[in-house]
Amino acid sequence: MYIILLGAPGVGKGTQSKRLMTKHGIPQISTGDILRAEVKKESTLGKRVKEIMANGELVSDDLILEIVERRLSQADCAAGFILDGFPRTIPQAEGLDEILRRLDNISVKVIEISVDDAEIIKRLTSRRVCGNCGTLYSILNKTLADLIPCEKCGSKDIFQRRDDTEETIKKRLGIYHETTAPLIGYYKAKGDFHSINGLQTVEEVSADIAGLFAKQLT
Ligand code: AP5
Repeated sequence: MYIILLGAPGVGKGTQSKRLMTKHGIPQISTGDILRAEVKKESTLGKRVKEIMANGELVSDDLILEIVERRLSQADCAAGFILDGFPRTIPQAEGLDEILRRLDNISVKVIEISVDDAEIIKRLTSRRVCGNCGTLYSILNKTLADLIPCEKCGSKDIFQRRDDTEETIKKRLGIYHETTAPLIGYYKAKGDFHSINGLQTVEEVSADIAGLFAKQLT
């Protein structure tokens, strides 16, 4: 199972990746999570990307491709992986093609999750994240106090991402439409491309994704 989850910020890529990871035991490779971990560690890489990420801009293709190639070469990726938030540009997609060729000609299924911009702004301004285990929460129908401690790990560190302000979300959406959305045509032309309505409930989106694999197995 080799999957690319494609879509704008906030469509639910992280949410669905985590569910797929739990269900199928394959790793979620989130370039955003990898970079945020480096920022948290205050590593050299983290210091380089901290302000770029906070401003909602993209990190350079070369750096991202280096990170992804290193990660995909690890043993736990041999039986499958879910790419979440990568690729995001045509050069990244071309670089990934090369990496997959080197990794025994792996072919990937590309699943686009689509949600309109107004809903995305609502979701991301309400998103809160557990700083310890990464569990995603929303304060849409809850208060922050309801979310503490984290129901999964008990941590009290429930925070809002620096790039989840309305101004930065709008900037991220602009970059998505201009730079990442062209990947839809790129992957449609290759064949194994599927689009899913992300305005459904989390469970319904998961069921649609599962349906794509059920078809493959029959
Ligand atoms: P990254 O971390 O990848 O962020 P993103 O793509 O902007 O996506 P998000 O994590 O914001 O959203 P998501 O689609 O995962 O939604 P989620 O499941 O959380 O990237 C961050 C930054 O890192 C970039 O801006 C860039 O600087 C850098 N970067 C990363 N990768 C890069 C790359 N390849 N190249 C260059 N730079 C890169 O859901 C959102 C909210 O909605 C949650 O609260 C969730 O609970 C809720 N929700 C989810 N599904 C549903 C549903 N069906 N109904 C209602 N609510 C839902």
